[in-house]
Amino acid sequence: MDSAPRDGSDIEQLIAERAFRFPSRHFLSVAKLTRPDADALLNLADAFVGLNRRPEKKISTLRGHTLVNLFFEASTRTQSSFELAGKRLGADTVNMSPRTSSMTKGETLIDTAMTLNAMKPDILIVRHSASGAADLLAQKVSCSVVNAGDGGHEHPTQALLDALTLRRAFGDVAGLTVAICGDVLHSRVARSNVGLLQLLGAHVRLVGPPTLMPSGAADWGVEVFHDMKAGLRDVDVVMMLRLQLERMDGAFVPSTREYFRYWGLDAEKLAYARPGVKVMHPGPMNRGVEIDSGVADDPAVSLIQDQVEMGVAARMAVLASLAARLDNGPAAGGV
Ligand code: NCD
Repeated sequence: MDSAPRDGSDIEQLIAERAFRFPSRHFLSVAKLTRPDADALLNLADAFVGLNRRPEKKISTLRGHTLVNLFFEASTRTQSSFELAGKRLGADTVNMSPRTSSMTKGETLIDTAMTLNAMKPDILIVRHSASGAADLLAQKVSCSVVNAGDGGHEHPTQALLDALTLRRAFGDVAGLTVAICGDVLHSRVARSNVGLLQLLGAHVRLVGPPTLMPSGAADWGVEVFHDMKAGLRDVDVVMMLRLQLERMDGAFVPSTREYFRYWGLDAEKLAYARPGVKVMHPGPMNRGVEIDSGVADDPAVSLIQDQVEMGVAARMAVLASLAARLDNGPAAGGV
């Protein structure tokens, strides 16, 4: 890893040296990434962190390309992160959301995508409440599609930014023990992270109440815990998940107060982890439900703001490497 500070044209040189051609036309899931692909994306993203820290952040990698953010679900950080990533790479970016599109007039997901496709975007970033929505769109449009979260399925750029954050905090992801805690059942962040963290050589634990643990979790190659203190014992990283109340059509937890008592991360539970433990959360946080503010805001343990910063760099790496396929002509056309 090279995260030594560099200035000006040095950074652009580093970005050029680390240029990477994405292995497929779309980025829908972490499942198809190989270890060399993941390392190449993380190396490139690391170089973009340097760019994002200089006063002049804009380069021309995506000049002439059009990026459309198609968000059918509310989002603040992911949507603005992709928008900034596209703009800093010089792309024309457009944001579409269901409230302002014809989706409210009954147009289907596919119709909306086909209409956008006819305007010849190069990259379509999609977030939708249905698992599989991004895959479906990818089969219908001629541009690249990036999955920015599809239901409870996957959120691959979140996993990439989390890996980048960990790599910069610890030097390497391999060998870390990471506990992913809370509402695993409804979490696309957890699914993508399990896959990528394992690919990078981390030991993954899932910690949460049985009602919020997917029935097949034991087959994911992880250790499953139904007790927070046992699950946190000797871990290097605690990744908290939001209690996804909007995805629950029934009572999965007795009350948010009781949930915090057993599953909320506070200093007392965190004390079971290894010294030097780091805490992550993809946001938005329910303070006092899954995480205590004292932990979330403690600069000695919290990586939460770093995750937001790394999000822009990780997405720039994905967009730039997808565009490298576009720029390489017809051979780049496959799925
Ligand atoms: C996550 C998401 O939308 O899946 N948030 C995010 O991308 N910043 C997690 C969540 O909503 O809890």
